[in-house]
Amino acid sequence: MSLRLPDSGAPTDASGRRHAPSAARNAAPILALLQQILPPAGRMLELASGTGQHARSFADALPGWHWQPTDVNPDTFGSITAWAEGQPRIAPARLLDAGQPGWAADLGQWDALLVVNLLHLIPEKAACAVLQGIATALAPAGRALVYGPFLRDGRATSEGDAAFHAALRAQNPAIGYKDLAWVQAQLATAGLQATPHDMPANNLGLVIFHL
Ligand SMILES: C[S@@+](CC[C@H](N)C(=O)[O-])C[C@H]1O[C@@H](n2cnc3c(N)ncnc32)[C@H](O)[C@@H]1O
Repeated sequence: MSLRLPDSGAPTDASGRRHAPSAARNAAPILALLQQILPPAGRMLELASGTGQHARSFADALPGWHWQPTDVNPDTFGSITAWAEGQPRIAPARLLDAGQPGWAADLGQWDALLVVNLLHLIPEKAACAVLQGIATALAPAGRALVYGPFLRDGRATSEGDAAFHAALRAQNPAIGYKDLAWVQAQLATAGLQATPHDMPANNLGLVIFHL
């Protein structure tokens, strides 16, 4: 079942690029954090790339980085391809279900991973698979960034977040915001540590590295 999300009606322009307002809004703060935590060059594996807006704007702004977009939904590939047009450091999108245990086994190691606005849309078991896969795919000195909304001590941090969490649960009781402490515990089990950074609109950017 496809979810009804705030960006579900995002328009597609004449060149095939979908424009999700949330991706346009959060691109600058996410890029600023990436610029703080990444070395000048490397290979980035992005999970749940969606429209491909982030792949394009971050690849343009990080000239030493080669970008691998992925998504579980092949319907996203047209937009990702359209956004990547003319940027040779973005590889063709790959099909990847990051909620499937073992997804990282055959992907090799990456200098960085990026996951934006995925964990609240999938069940806990799938979120565990995402976090464990990061441990497998992340090179020993690598950095991962997981961005999105989280519960803190089991609570939403604003009325808008509480309403969005409830709307997700109403569509599928297995999904919804994950608690920050729960995510950190899953990461610790996988040998990873996360430093939370406050981001606009009550979101967090979790900067993840091997212990
Ligand atoms: C809200 S969109 C976020 C897209 C993009 N990261 C952004 O911030 O604009 C969520 C994306 O997650 C993808 N997705 C959902 N479940 C997934 C899974 N198990 N593995 C990989 N991608 C998944 C969806 O297809 C969709 O493109």
